[in-house]
Amino acid sequence: MNTLSVKITEDLFYIGVNDRETHLFENLWPLDNGISYNSYILTGEKTALLDTVKISKVDGFLTKIKSILNGRKLDYLVIHHMEPDHSGSIKAVLDMHPEVKLVGNKKTGEFLKAFYGIVDGFIEVNEGASLDLGDKKLDFYMTPMVHWPESMVSYERSNKVLFSQDAFGGFGALNGPIFDDEINWDFYESETRRYYSNIVGKHSRQVQTAIKKLANLDIFMICPLHGPVWRSRPQKIVELYDRWSKFDTEEGVVIVYGSMYGNTSVMAEAIARVLAEEGIKNIKLFDVSKTHVSYIINEVWKYRGLILGSCTYNNGLFPPMSHLVNLIRMNTMKNHILGIFGSYSWSGGAVKALREFAEASEFEFIDTVVEAKCAPTDGDLDGCTKIAKEMASRLKGV
Ligand code: FEO
Repeated sequence: MNTLSVKITEDLFYIGVNDRETHLFENLWPLDNGISYNSYILTGEKTALLDTVKISKVDGFLTKIKSILNGRKLDYLVIHHMEPDHSGSIKAVLDMHPEVKLVGNKKTGEFLKAFYGIVDGFIEVNEGASLDLGDKKLDFYMTPMVHWPESMVSYERSNKVLFSQDAFGGFGALNGPIFDDEINWDFYESETRRYYSNIVGKHSRQVQTAIKKLANLDIFMICPLHGPVWRSRPQKIVELYDRWSKFDTEEGVVIVYGSMYGNTSVMAEAIARVLAEEGIKNIKLFDVSKTHVSYIINEVWKYRGLILGSCTYNNGLFPPMSHLVNLIRMNTMKNHILGIFGSYSWSGGAVKALREFAEASEFEFIDTVVEAKCAPTDGDLDGCTKIAKEMASRLKGV
């Protein structure tokens, strides 16, 4: 028995790898729980490797390929996505199997040349094309911008398997469990939404297009490039991606504050307390200087209410709050109710910047805005109470 790979069907194997060493995905997003770079190999009449892994994991990956092929030649390497967490080992696979044909679309070919100088042995496929593997076929569907312009998926008809690349993936290494029926979903759900909101969410419109395009396929199993293989309930991850890409938020409030000496945090706490008194059960309170924006964005994606508070720094937003606001703006998030507050000591700036952000967003805006000079007065705290009450009332639709 080959213990390095996992059999999925008679001639389909999981040969992914786990990365628990890298601190930041894309050198941006924390990987506190690691990540898997999934790869699959089909061993029917023709052999086909479906994507590779990040170059830092190439040695173990090549060992798995060698073990599964057991002397057979590799006919095809299908490249669903060119981001280097999946394309990084293509050259190493070519070195080991110079006979292999690379399969991708026009943009895949452009990236292959630009990233790795590879031009030979490339087979171009387009929307609706099929790759004949003898006893089975792979049908290709283009899913541009989920996550890059060349992103595409393939569907293997005989086993009804969708190879979905980044779509339907998530953060979190696979620590033994590989399949959705083996994992603790309570843990993976948050990590999967964090992956969605941090990496794919900006392209939610294109995710909706892809979900609609694939809706008529009879999908028995989903094999993404990160996170668990969905063999028991593939519809569950499709439903979640559908909800997240529709900005289908739920009742709850995320309060984020930037505070140098505690005065703005006092207002945040006052708002949180009143929200609790008003019956809001899901309240997430973050110090933007302490919690990485990756985790904040994940919660903002989940809950409808958002309250941002910032001290003034050099006549503008506190820099970590500015970073968060830029990310929210970049992700073109929708379906939120927004409240703002802040503080200043001599010339303002933070609340003005938050107001500009609110006006440019598609969020519902809470009319009450509080701007404290130095430390909040009783009047300012009364204003915080008003923000909280108005937020609770709108969330509950009363
Ligand atoms: Fe997992 Fe867009 O790469």
